[in-house]
Formats: sequence, C-alpha cells, structure tokens
Amino acid sequence: MTTITVIRGDGIGPEIMDATLHVLDAMQLGLTYEDADAGMVALDKHGELLPQATMDSIRRNKIALKSPLTTPVGGGFSSINVELRKRFDLYANVRPAKCFPNTKSRFSSGVDLITVRENTEGAYIGEGQEVSADGETAVLTQKVTRKGSERIVRYAFELARKTGRKKVTIVHKANILKSTSGLFLKTAREVAAHYPDIECNEMIVDNTCMQLVMRPEQFDIICTTNLFGDIISDLCAGLVGGLGLAPGANIGTDVAIFEAVHGSAPDIAGKGVANPCALLLGACQMLDHLGRPEQAMRLRDAIIATLEAKDSLTPDLGGSGNTMGFAKAIATRL
Ligand code: NAI
Ligand code: MG
Repeated sequence: MTTITVIRGDGIGPEIMDATLHVLDAMQLGLTYEDADAGMVALDKHGELLPQATMDSIRRNKIALKSPLTTPVGGGFSSINVELRKRFDLYANVRPAKCFPNTKSRFSSGVDLITVRENTEGAYIGEGQEVSADGETAVLTQKVTRKGSERIVRYAFELARKTGRKKVTIVHKANILKSTSGLFLKTAREVAAHYPDIECNEMIVDNTCMQLVMRPEQFDIICTTNLFGDIISDLCAGLVGGLGLAPGANIGTDVAIFEAVHGSAPDIAGKGVANPCALLLGACQMLDHLGRPEQAMRLRDAIIATLEAKDSLTPDLGGSGNTMGFAKAIATRL
C-alpha cells in the first residue's frame, strides 16, 4: 500500500486538492492519504509554517502531493517551498508544458516540452542577501557547484532516454556570468558527452525566451539553472494556456513532491472556480514517478477528453464551470 502525504495548502489549495482527490478516488488506485499541514493554515493551527509532523510525514512516505502555500511577508523562511526543496534536497524541478485542446494557447499544437530546472542552488535560493545600512546597495551570493550542475544535467538526459525524447537544450548565460553559468555549461558539456544518443544544443537564456515565443516546437527538454528555470517555465506555461495547466515535480534521490506551478490565487480563493488541472497533471507526474505510467496516461487522457468536449471548463479556460464540476466531468471520462 502506497501512502501519500497530502498538503492541502492555502487559498485555492483545499479546493483544487478536494477536486484532485475526487478524481484519484474515482480511479481506485489503492493509495492512502496522510494529511499534513503547511503554510498559513499550519501557522494558525500549530504556530509554525512548516511543522515537524509535516516534515516527518514526507520523510516517512517519500511522496507528497502539495497544494500551493502562501508565504507570509516577514515569516521565518524566504519561502516554504524553497525550504522544502532545501531540506529534502529536491534537486530536480521538472515542469512539462504541453498544448491541450480548447485552452487559450496561441499554439494549436506542437508545444510539448519539459523544463528541467536545478532546484537547490544559484541566485534563486537567496543566499547571502544583504542591504547596506544606508539602503543604497544590495548584494546576493550566487553559488553554482559542479556536483549540482552534474546531477541536474544527468537527470535531464536520463529523462530524455526514459521518455523517448530526442534533444536536450542547455540554457545558460555563460557569455556574461562566466563563473557560475560558465561552470554549469562546462559541466553540462561533459555530461552530454556520455549521451551520444541524445542531441544536445546550447542556447543563451535571452535568445531562448525569444525562440520560445517564436518557434516553441524546436524544444524538447530544456535544462537550466534555478532562476532561469523559474522564469522560463512560467513562460512555457503561458505558451500552453496559462498557469491553470502547468504542473511541476520536485524530485530528490529519496523524496519527491508534486504540485501545481501556480500559487494560492488569493483573488479567486473560496469562490470554487479555480482550475484543478495543474494539480491533477501534477498527480499524473506522481503516478509516473510511482511506476504507474498506464494510470498516469489514463488520467491525462480523461483530462484531455474533458477539455476537448469543453465540458464544465473553469473561467480561466473561458468556461463558466466550477472546480468540483470540472473534476466530476473528468472523473466520468476515466
Ligand atoms: P498565483 O499563481 O497564485 O496567481 C496568479 C494569477 O493566476 C491570479 O490571477 C490567479 O487567480 C490565477 N491562477 C492561479 N492558479 C489558478 C488556477 N488554478 N485556476 C485559475 N486561475 C489561477 O500567483 P501570485 O498571486 O503571485 O501568488 C499568490 C500567493 O501564492 C503568494 O503568497 C505566493 O507566495 C504563493 N505562491 C505559492 C506557490 C507554491 O506554493 N508552489 C507558487 C507561486 C506562488
Ligand atoms: Mg515561479
């Protein structure tokens, strides 16, 4: 019996988690769920944003399905998500972006790419942040290691092999950030040499943004450092119809946490209109990770069929449906 730690989160979190679990229950997967609190709800209930019991649950079960968390301004952590990634060494952030039918994507088809983002180092983790006493100067340390670069690039190539993808694009800014991005690129080239069966190309990050908007079909797997990956993966979500359709997996050697890329959406929280697809697609990634690719495929197909039929779509997709109605429409197509 596989037990999953379920974090219902803040804002729209509980609504999309209810919807997701409704669909998973309909699949009769034989999974058990263990609830654990994190975020504002945990702060209210337990006086902590990330209680020890939640950490213990994740460590024990090794798999978590997580709704978005609100990080309060002035809280103890720069971000609970960054903290989770750090504590469990979740070094690979894997974000697929694929065109689905009847979304607001400008590209009717052809976009089917995965961003593999380094998740534990670089500028994004906010190490060494300081503002001078007079408030005139701010600094931040950006650290990249060979070990960190090597394992993320290897993950990208292994993912290519496992999923039958043909190309990995290494995205960098080594022409300007010669030390950090330079080390990442140099290490990436060394790793790529061990995968002669997978095409490898290199692209500077600003050009990548332009290329993604002009000709997204050219990309298969993008592998990059933390901050670039954060920005590029949202751009990719925009290519395929928005944040409501963008899932993400945070994967370490021991633990993996699956989520939606979007946040807690306070503007629509409590209204029951959030799109549950991103978290549902995160659950598909989870099923793949659990070695249940047929079940992942079954769920993905049901989501696609529901989008195709324009059945009960939520307002972000141009419909007038609600979160649970959409989930039920998906469940009937399983
Ligand atoms: P957001 O992603 O929550 O919202 C951005 C826009 O997208 C809003 O207009 C929202 O209504 C819409 N949106 C997001 N998810 C949607 C969904 N499933 N269906 C329909 N519309 C959706 O980003 P924002 O407003 O910058 O952040 C809000 C809070 O979320 C912040 O406290 C932030 O720290 C947190 N956050 C948490 C994340 C996580 O836990 N993984 C990731 C990003 C932000
Ligand atoms: Mg982001």
